[in-house]
Amino acid sequence: MNRRRFLRIAGSAGVIIAAGGAAFLATRTPKDALVPWEQAGSLYPDPMRRALSYAILAPNPHNRQPWVIDLKGDTEAVLTCDLDRLLPVTDPFSRQIVIGLGCFLELFSIAAAAQGYRAHISYFPDGEPDNRLDRKPIARLSLQPQKGLAGDPLFAQALKRHTNRNPYDTKRPIDDDIVRRLQSGAAKNIQIGAVNGGALLQDLRALTRDAMWAEIRTAEAYQESIDLMRIGRSEIEANPDGIALGGAFLETLKLAGVLSRESLADPSSRSYQIGLDMIEEGAMTAMGFVWIKTSGNNRTAQIVAGRAYLRVALQATADGLAMQPMSQALQEYAAMQPYYETIHARLTKRPGERVQMLARLGYAEAVGPAPRWPLMTRIGVKES
Ligand SMILES: Cc1cc2nc3c(=O)[nH]c(=O)nc-3n(C[C@H](O)[C@H](O)[C@H](O)COP(=O)(O)O)c2cc1C
Repeated sequence: MNRRRFLRIAGSAGVIIAAGGAAFLATRTPKDALVPWEQAGSLYPDPMRRALSYAILAPNPHNRQPWVIDLKGDTEAVLTCDLDRLLPVTDPFSRQIVIGLGCFLELFSIAAAAQGYRAHISYFPDGEPDNRLDRKPIARLSLQPQKGLAGDPLFAQALKRHTNRNPYDTKRPIDDDIVRRLQSGAAKNIQIGAVNGGALLQDLRALTRDAMWAEIRTAEAYQESIDLMRIGRSEIEANPDGIALGGAFLETLKLAGVLSRESLADPSSRSYQIGLDMIEEGAMTAMGFVWIKTSGNNRTAQIVAGRAYLRVALQATADGLAMQPMSQALQEYAAMQPYYETIHARLTKRPGERVQMLARLGYAEAVGPAPRWPLMTRIGVKES
């Protein structure tokens, strides 16, 4: 098992992605699952679907892609959440799911502007859901053509942004200027914090590692991720969402019976141990962290946090930085409570302040895009 050559990361879930064996790997690329990245902006004549074809490329937890779009013509639509795509164990209040929908809305807005349309987005037009999401709209969207509308420079990064779970280069520090640029999207209800050295960086490395280890050791939580793993090309093509474990090496391990959902869940297995090691490697090579805070934690705050996260991720991409959310310590289930309390004690000042996103930063080998369901499969009113 040549781990150095092949295995990289651990994400929220444990073991992920491999590289190597170029020729074989090429045949194992889940091409159909990546088609939405090629089709963005080109398949549809109308501005609404063109902008939506970018929005579906937004980052979102466990790549659940919980968006359902009810089209109301060429310039109007309603966004709802697919309640079959929640993460009930690790995201019990669907806070992260809503953040992902916020990322979707920001990318929609940036892509609309690139076509000369201003996006008007009203959040929760029929009221905010409380602890449980419901089928009421997340947002109403409309587009208005606007002459001379300045496009957003971050649009240039829309197809280049990818969550990077590789180890980061510990010999390459991050410039203060870059860190400051990431924080420039702070607004009245959004604080963006960042660190690129010192004791806080060390503490966040250890904290994110420990929280992720604790998640893996909490069988019910880890199982939620394992159930969403797509191991090998055929599984990824059949379900282009969840956690894609693709590439020649992992396919070989799968064929050899070393890598399976059962082995991943078994603490005595090799793949489980590798998962723990890879988590450590990822967390301890973080060269910086960025976090997004809101003063409260209602649904609108979560949407706004998602919009801010998307902009931070695009700015990081523009500056050549790799980035990966490390969300475990922010999660609201019992095993995370000590980590949740520690991180809020370290990163917040006022009561009620909430850390919505925390991501590691650094320089790393580039990664490719993650699978997506095509836009047309996300359009339509989902029946209960
Ligand atoms: C709210 C939220 C939480 C996330 N948490 C994690 C995480 O803890 N670990 C991780 O590796 N990725 C995390 N991600 C990244 C998603 O897994 C990723 O966006 C998704 O798999 C799609 O891949 P892409 O970002 O490369 O397009 C998170 C994303 C969002 C929006």
